[in-house]
Amino acid sequence: MRELPRRDFLARMVGGVAGGVAALLGIPAGVFVIGPSQERRTGDWVALGTVDDFPLEKPRLISATVAKQQGWVVEEQELSVFVSTEDGTEFVAMSDKCTHLGCRVRYVDEIDEAAGPGFFCPCHNGVFDSEGGVVAGPIPRPLDRLETKVEEGRLFVREL
Ligand code: FES
Repeated sequence: MRELPRRDFLARMVGGVAGGVAALLGIPAGVFVIGPSQERRTGDWVALGTVDDFPLEKPRLISATVAKQQGWVVEEQELSVFVSTEDGTEFVAMSDKCTHLGCRVRYVDEIDEAAGPGFFCPCHNGVFDSEGGVVAGPIPRPLDRLETKVEEGRLFVREL
């Protein structure tokens, strides 16, 4: 077995320690720098108002501004949802964005005699029923629903 000269031994020791320190510092630094761009956040809860703000008869369109983080950039986005309730305790929240190409839908009291009330998208004549289901037009799926909860008399939705 060949003996390692003292100078080489010290050089290897210093190199090993320096490599270990670099790894200890580099891994957290890498996670800090790359992490936010890889992060997938679940939606935050957004307050829309008190439960009394929502009429029983027909959906109410309500908007709120939410801060969305995309990587390192935080930008404000508008969240618009139709909220309906039959009894003032259970709520349904649906996005007002058409699932075809994202135009804003509007509530209409009567789409036609047979269909009754629903949502109409003027961009390509898309029609949704009052539950957000597909009735007519090029729309691929029902309106997106948002999770709801009531806390201390206030209605919240979880953004998509
Ligand atoms: S965007 Fe609504 S039907 Fe095309």
